[in-house]
Amino acid sequence: MPISDSLSDEERKAAQLGAVPDFGADTPLAAQLALDTKRTITLANAAFDRPLQTRVLTVANQKGGVGKTTTAVNIAAAMARGGLHVLVIDNDPQGNASTALGVEHGAGAPSTYDVLIGASTFAEVVQPSAFDPKLICAPATIDLSGAEIELVSIDSRETRLRHALRDYLVHRGQQGLPRLDYVLIDCPPSLGLLTVNAFTAAGEVLIPIQCEYYALEGLSQLLKNIELIQAHLNPRLAVSTILLTMSDTRTNLAREVAQEVRDHFPEQTLRTVIPRSIRISEAPSYGQTVIEYDPASSGALAYAEAAREIAKRGAATTSNEGEQQ
Ligand SMILES: Nc1ncnc2c1ncn2[C@@H]1O[C@H](COP(=O)(O)OP(=O)(O)O)[C@@H](O)[C@H]1O
Ligand SMILES: [Mg+2]
Repeated sequence: MPISDSLSDEERKAAQLGAVPDFGADTPLAAQLALDTKRTITLANAAFDRPLQTRVLTVANQKGGVGKTTTAVNIAAAMARGGLHVLVIDNDPQGNASTALGVEHGAGAPSTYDVLIGASTFAEVVQPSAFDPKLICAPATIDLSGAEIELVSIDSRETRLRHALRDYLVHRGQQGLPRLDYVLIDCPPSLGLLTVNAFTAAGEVLIPIQCEYYALEGLSQLLKNIELIQAHLNPRLAVSTILLTMSDTRTNLAREVAQEVRDHFPEQTLRTVIPRSIRISEAPSYGQTVIEYDPASSGALAYAEAAREIAKRGAATTSNEGEQQ
């Protein structure tokens, strides 16, 4: 069927999808390529649903290397490409999210640290990402490594991020800037005061879980901490989203771990699983997300699908900053 200009976008997409041949299990590589092509067509230029109010998600897991930063920046980039306005708060002294978004975060640059200690506002520290001006970032510098200790002696030390974020959302409204659709907070691999601030500032927690043998180890500790935050600091906090990451889809182990997580968290676990992908791990060294670096790769497609699931699921149901005092 010819793909003519008179077709609507949906019709054109359907025609393109129909043109991709089907391959059987005997040609797995061709089948995978055909599947990726279909996903690329489906996701290309797909506009994301806007939430009713700004949704604030803290990306947390006290284990290091499970894909927190990768998840925060790639979900954010996919959402921006889908037309949404997104802020990433880099709340980890390592500054990996700032690196992946191509924003300046050398020692002394205005950063999340300055916001936490009250020296700056978010309006003064956010920078547009190299990828898209709709995606902005509050960078983290090495200064943030001292914040855990400095905050201990500061007033209302658990709620500083929450108040600063609330002020920034109000400020954007007053300045006539577009309302932020999503705020993603990238956390360090610990449950200290930086993570407590992130839990207190958010409405939702997004937990990336690596598809490996000890995946669920440490999760009960994380959930216990979240319960404490709910009891004392932020009653509306909910673990809304679990994302399976770095899955080696060919192994039984990855499938078993995925099933176990789904058995424990049937509502929260996204259908999309992020595969292990060289392209995902290469992207940060170019100061890019994989959404920018190689948008047609399986890793980029998976993150785009995960972002769309998040946008679809919670669009009309979750609360936000606006409710906070
Ligand atoms: N799906 C993936 N495939 C391959 N490498 C990945 C994937 N997700 C993350 N990585 C790599 O694994 C390392 C740890 O990921 P990262 O997101 O930094 O974890 P965390 O923030 O939880 O410490 C990084 O080098 C990252 O590039
Ligand atoms: Mg990280």
